[in-house]
Amino acid sequence: MKNTFINDQIRGFLNDPDEIASLANISSVIMLAYSSLNWAGFYLVNKGQLTVGPFQGGPACTPISFSKGVCGKCYRDGEIQNVADVHAAADHIACDGNTASELCVPVMVNKTTVMEIDLDSPIADRFDKDFENEMRQAAADIAEAYCVHGWNSYAGGSI
Ligand code: SME
Repeated sequence: MKNTFINDQIRGFLNDPDEIASLANISSVIMLAYSSLNWAGFYLVNKGQLTVGPFQGGPACTPISFSKGVCGKCYRDGEIQNVADVHAAADHIACDGNTASELCVPVMVNKTTVMEIDLDSPIADRFDKDFENEMRQAAADIAEAYCVHGWNSYAGGSI
């Protein structure tokens, strides 16, 4: 089901030149805009691994190696990971035992992943094609803002 205004709301927060403030508000608006999420936030590429960034939800595993978890696979493949059943995923890292499905979306600048949007749901197969497309668009908009504002919260960590 389409969430008509989410990408406009996200673009609004991307006018903020402060990376952490912008991502914090985006994690909040995603958490509030969709039902049945138990975690919504960012992992930032930082010195060869993934460090948790702004998020909504419970405490998160951090850092995550590129070789581990759904987030690591997202980084290695440079592609969206839509995991309908995390219990069936070989390499899922469980930060919260209630999580049943996960969507991880790379934010890519110059074909390099600089951060990831990561979403967890307590419902299996939560992330339909509309949801996936909205987060794909969000990632493209965040990548543009990253370039426009010259973001890189970890100096030397991403691009
Ligand atoms: N489940 C992720 C870890 C991050 S948490 O979901 C917030 C993974 O397997 O990489």
